[in-house]
Amino acid sequence: MTRTAETPPTFFAPVDTSPAVQLVRLVQGYEVTQIVATVARLGLADRLVEQPKSSAELAEATGADPEGLARLLRAAATVGLVTELEADHFELTPVGACLAADAQPASLRDFAVALASPGQWLPCGRLFDAVMSGHPSTALALGTEIWDYYRNNPEEGAVFARAMGGLSASVSTEVAAHYNAARFTRIVDVGGSQGTLLAGLLKAAPQATGVLFDRPEVIAEARPVITARGLAERMELVSGDFFTEVPAGGDLYVLKSVLHDWNDTDVLRILANCHRAAQPGSMLLLVEGLKPTEPGPSPIHLINLLMFIQVKGRERTREEHQALLEAAGYRLERVLTPSTGLYHPWSLLEARRI
Ligand SMILES: C[S@@+](CC[C@H](N)C(=O)[O-])C[C@H]1O[C@@H](n2cnc3c(N)ncnc32)[C@H](O)[C@@H]1O
Repeated sequence: MTRTAETPPTFFAPVDTSPAVQLVRLVQGYEVTQIVATVARLGLADRLVEQPKSSAELAEATGADPEGLARLLRAAATVGLVTELEADHFELTPVGACLAADAQPASLRDFAVALASPGQWLPCGRLFDAVMSGHPSTALALGTEIWDYYRNNPEEGAVFARAMGGLSASVSTEVAAHYNAARFTRIVDVGGSQGTLLAGLLKAAPQATGVLFDRPEVIAEARPVITARGLAERMELVSGDFFTEVPAGGDLYVLKSVLHDWNDTDVLRILANCHRAAQPGSMLLLVEGLKPTEPGPSPIHLINLLMFIQVKGRERTREEHQALLEAAGYRLERVLTPSTGLYHPWSLLEARRI
C-alpha cells in the first residue's frame, strides 16, 4: 500500500511573486533536475513508500553522507517530493511517489535519472553553443553522437531505454485504447526500444504478432524485459539499422518518437526503408507530438529545442509530417490526438503505403 501525504504548496507552485523572484526560480531549475534525479538514484521513494523515515535512517540505508542526505531531503521537501513531518523525518508526497519502482502506470525513476545523466545533461549545458553554431552540441559535449554514446556507455543507455519505456507506458495504454489495432496480424515497431508501445498494441490485437526492431545494444537490453513480460512468444526481436533496412512483411509499421530525432533527409531514408519493407495498402502509424502552428507557449517547444541541442531533429506540424509522408509514398489518412501526455499531447498519424 503506497502511503503518501498531500503535495503541499511548494517552491515551484504558482505563487504571487515578483518577476525578479520568478526569474531567479527559473534559473534554479538546473538544481531541481539534479535534486529529483538524486532522490531517484538513491531509491528514496521506495524506501519511504511504506512509512516516513529520518534522514539518518535513509543515510544508513543508502550509504550516503548523513549531512549531504539531510540537505538533499530538505531541498526535496522544498520542491515537493517529500514533506518534513517533524524535525528530520520525511514522508513521501504523491509527486515523489512517481519515482517509486511500482508507480502506476509506470515509474518515472529512470526518466529522472536519465535526464540528469551526462548523455542528456552535458549537451543541454552547451545550449548556447548549439544556438550560436546551428549544430547539435552533443558531439561537442560527449565526443560522439548520442546513440553511439549510449552504445559506449551501456548502463546509461539502458537507463535511457527504460526512461523512454516509462514515458511510453501511459501513451501505450492510450494508443491501444484509441487505435483499432485488432485488424492487423504483424505489427513492426521501428526504433521500438524496450517494446512498451508494441506490448500495448499486441494486447489490443490478440491475434497479431509483433516485431521489435532497434539497434543491437538496445535489443540486447530489451530481450530479458520482453521475456519477463511473458511476450517472448509473440514478439520477435530484430536488431539492425533503420537507415539500412527494416523487417519486412508487417501490415502495420509503427514509429514512435523516432522521426523527431532526425532531419528531413534522414526521415525520408527511414520512411523509404519502411516503404520498401511493406506491401501496398499496409499502414504506417506515427506517434509524435505535433508542433502548434499558432504562436503561444507549448511543451512541444521545449522538446523542439532539445531536438536541436541533442540531435539534428525537430518537432513537426501536421502539414510537415504530411509532406514527408507523401514524398515517401504514403497517404496520410487520419490524425488523432487522444492524449494530453506526460511530456506533451501525443498525436497518431495514420498513413497508407501507396
Ligand atoms: C527517442 S527513442 C524512441 C523509442 C521508442 N519508440 C519510444 O517511444 O519509447 C528513439 C529510438 O530509436 C532507436 N534508434 C536510433 N537510431 C537507430 C537506428 N539507426 N536503427 C534502429 N533504431 C535506432 C534508438 O535506439 C531508440 O530506441
